[in-house]
Amino acid sequence: MKVGIIGSGYVGLVAAACFAEMGNKVICVDVDQKKIENLKKGIVPIYEPGIEQLVLENQKKGTLYFTTNIKDSLDEAKVVFIAVGTPMGDDGSADLKFVLQVAKDIGNKMSHHLVVVDKSTVPVGTADLVKEIIQRALSDRNSDLTFDVVSNPEFLKEGAAIDDFMRPDRVVVGASNSDSMNLMKELYAPFTFNHDRFIGMDIRSAEMTKYAANAMLATKISFINEMANICEHVGADINEVRIGIGSDKRIGYQFIYPGCGYGGSCFPKDVKALVNIAQGSGYTPQLILSVEKVNDDQKNILFKKIVSRFGTDLHDKSFAIWGLSFKPGTDDMREAPSISLIKSILSAGGKVNAYDPKAIDQAKFYLKDLDVKYCSDKYESLKNADAIVLVTEWKEFRSPDFEKMAEIMNNKVLIDGRNQFSANQINKHGFEYFQIGVK
Ligand SMILES: NC(=O)c1ccc[n+]([C@@H]2O[C@H](COP(=O)([O-])OP(=O)(O)OC[C@H]3O[C@@H](n4cnc5c(N)ncnc54)[C@H](O)[C@@H]3O)[C@@H](O)[C@H]2O)c1
Repeated sequence: MKVGIIGSGYVGLVAAACFAEMGNKVICVDVDQKKIENLKKGIVPIYEPGIEQLVLENQKKGTLYFTTNIKDSLDEAKVVFIAVGTPMGDDGSADLKFVLQVAKDIGNKMSHHLVVVDKSTVPVGTADLVKEIIQRALSDRNSDLTFDVVSNPEFLKEGAAIDDFMRPDRVVVGASNSDSMNLMKELYAPFTFNHDRFIGMDIRSAEMTKYAANAMLATKISFINEMANICEHVGADINEVRIGIGSDKRIGYQFIYPGCGYGGSCFPKDVKALVNIAQGSGYTPQLILSVEKVNDDQKNILFKKIVSRFGTDLHDKSFAIWGLSFKPGTDDMREAPSISLIKSILSAGGKVNAYDPKAIDQAKFYLKDLDVKYCSDKYESLKNADAIVLVTEWKEFRSPDFEKMAEIMNNKVLIDGRNQFSANQINKHGFEYFQIGVK
């Protein structure tokens, strides 16, 4: 099938590469000229395991093309995906300016019947809005071309995006027209080959499903973080409690790791947008508001631990930050807990030596003008450090050389934002060890 993808970010690029890999002809569009020039040369703008190989191979095979001209993609395509960003607006709502601009461009430039797919995460009712805008643009051209708008929210996880797209737990499609629904089934059939994971529903329910899924995951994170904080107050150990509750099949072990709060390009903005959607409809979402509040507080937890160990004046103190991206496996720094932590340390007069296996370039952008020393090796960041603060649980931090660390550091203090180690293991090496949810 001929597929157009508008927006070549994490979602658009992964979708494009995976559809192309299945033999479709995909034309991927972006307004960012530099990004497209680089992609044409095989330079992939994001770190995502497996993406580079798929992009290179499919360009070579002639199944994947990149352009800045939306018309090139619309002229060829049977189905066109909108995969542009929906960042958080000033009032917490999803800012739809990119989506609506694309809708207008589609209406202005389309040349035959199209199925337009909202893949961006958008508030309930956006498909109607997209439909209205495309129709208005067509009417302005005195065109009687036909089109349909469907919703196909994306559930991939950065760091495992290719695998998630190739072997999805489910493909959710909201459509009001059976021909469009069947076209989407056909397009996704190769990805749901061994058993059917295609879930068709009405458009508004599909739009809501994405927010409900992210709100549920954010709720699990804030729930376990709240339990961790209670554990610290009452002298219990959240690591034991986690195992104790996860063994109940109704609860399960997934997504109940205590930590320093969720970040990234999705949970913070989608939780906020859901609050905004609910309040806009006259409903106050009390649980989701609390999930957000707990997370905002949790992003301060590592700094609070630093203060409780070193005091509020951090002049002459130096901190090695291990991990900057919002989670392992990605270079994405959007809303990463490392950002607020580093700003707090610097404002209290402390020094920061930061190391991340993949996110340093992105971090330099998000922390620009701040006096952070970036290190090319995790041990280099320990020179003269008074404490290590482990923020992102990259695999390379799981089994570090503690003897070497002890030799390099000023003070043997490890503040662990991801509860990676056991206290016994750390104490053996003479480190003071601070975890989340353990007194
Ligand atoms: N990143 C994720 O893990 C993830 C997962 C699921 C859903 N989503 C959702 O998918 C959407 C895209 O997210 P992302 O992380 O890929 O965003 P992104 O910011 O990485 O990429 C968006 C791209 O769209 C381009 N763009 C903007 N306006 C354009 C236009 N008029 N024409 C063509 N291109 C245009 C930008 O230049 C950018 O390259 C968002 O709604 C997001 O919430 C993201």
